[in-house]
Amino acid sequence: MITRRGVLAGGAALTVLGAPRPSLATTPGRLITQEASRQIVPTDYPETRLWRYALDGRTGPATGPTIRARQGDTLSLRLENGLARPTTVHWHGIRIDNAMDGVPGVTQSPVGPSETFDYVFDLPDAGTYWYHSHVDSVEQVARGLHGPLIVDEAEAPDVDDDLVLVLDDWRLDAGAQITDDFENRHDRSHAGRLGNVVTTNGDMDWRQSVTAGARLRLRLINVANARVFDLALAGVTGWIVATDGMPLAAPRVIEGPFALGPAQRLDLIVDIAGEVGDEVGLVELIRGEAYSQATFVVENGGSARTAAPLPLPPNPTYGVADATNARKIEIVMQGGAMRGLPEVMSGGVIRDGRSLMMEGLFWALSGQAGRPDTPLAEIAQGETVAIDFVNETAFPHAMHLHGHHFHEVAPDGSLGDFRDTTLVQPGQRVSTLFVAHNPGDWLLHCHMLAHHAAGMGTWIRVA
Ligand code: C2O
Ligand code: CU
Repeated sequence: MITRRGVLAGGAALTVLGAPRPSLATTPGRLITQEASRQIVPTDYPETRLWRYALDGRTGPATGPTIRARQGDTLSLRLENGLARPTTVHWHGIRIDNAMDGVPGVTQSPVGPSETFDYVFDLPDAGTYWYHSHVDSVEQVARGLHGPLIVDEAEAPDVDDDLVLVLDDWRLDAGAQITDDFENRHDRSHAGRLGNVVTTNGDMDWRQSVTAGARLRLRLINVANARVFDLALAGVTGWIVATDGMPLAAPRVIEGPFALGPAQRLDLIVDIAGEVGDEVGLVELIRGEAYSQATFVVENGGSARTAAPLPLPPNPTYGVADATNARKIEIVMQGGAMRGLPEVMSGGVIRDGRSLMMEGLFWALSGQAGRPDTPLAEIAQGETVAIDFVNETAFPHAMHLHGHHFHEVAPDGSLGDFRDTTLVQPGQRVSTLFVAHNPGDWLLHCHMLAHHAAGMGTWIRVA
């Protein structure tokens, strides 16, 4: 196995790429899935074979291209499946028309090899979103079927540059190839499929030159299968201005480390300080050591802004989330290594946990392993819902609800960040509140993708 530390310690030259430049793609496009290969690890290793999206022939630095549109636009894309496997596209975090949500067996049939599917949907919200395969996602996302979806505000904030930073980890073998152990029982029952090569925009040593004093918008997207990035700023000051695409009412100063769970996004605004030649930026913290996640090399003096950034303009709201009349749902996360699975429902019958684990199902949500035939809850459109996530397992989980964002609720009842994915630590209870405004059948699952595959998924119906 290649480790990042091992490769870096080996002193091999690292591939340095420019940052991807966003470009506009608002007209109907051809979104093709295809096999490709790319240099992920240093050039004394072979290129890594991967799967990726291409939009009208354009790809991203490693995998999918950035799809960029304006708030209020209608996105119209024809998926053409160039792979030998069925696939779909899920538009993660978009408060989308249910029929376009890309969930096989729920909102559409899988798109077979050489088949097509037309995705046409409105973009009500500005912000940082992403798209990825929702078929065999442990494998298809690990192989590279994902990309950023950026929806621009009518009026852009005052920054010198706007950069998309796709954070990923890859599990590569000694020949720099993606390991095909997608059914790995240890991953499924423990922390998910963690990688051994960590990248930003497909690069192990992503860096870019900036002017001292520059103010940058950084759009962080965690596309990893299971990795929780513990991040910190190094030599820059910054604010969080949006969580999972949704603007904060007031920018929040970043004072210490911050976590980015699988599928989560953060929009930061950072001010570059330092002398010419300094290297500053974003680091990942691993056991007390800081590893560069994005490096900015300071060039030329410039004058810094003195005022804090303004909040991003708010996205539309759909009704008021009022806790007093909320429908209460408790979702207890159960199972996994070190806890084991009790007797639960699976496939419509009561099963004992041991036999389910033999079959590769290790997790349950409130006594149900795997997606049930009937929804966890049927909710009237416009009803306020309070979901409490209770983590009785020994691992963190990144719980994602399709089609909606929810507030994380503070212990004093105040409404916190508005997210589509919340990270729930072992032993923790996370309370959420939202208005179920979007009709349809919506998945609710752990975005540690091996956990979802191993039983940690359910759904709600809003009608
Ligand atoms: Cu980002 Cu159900 O997924
Ligand atoms: Cu999980």
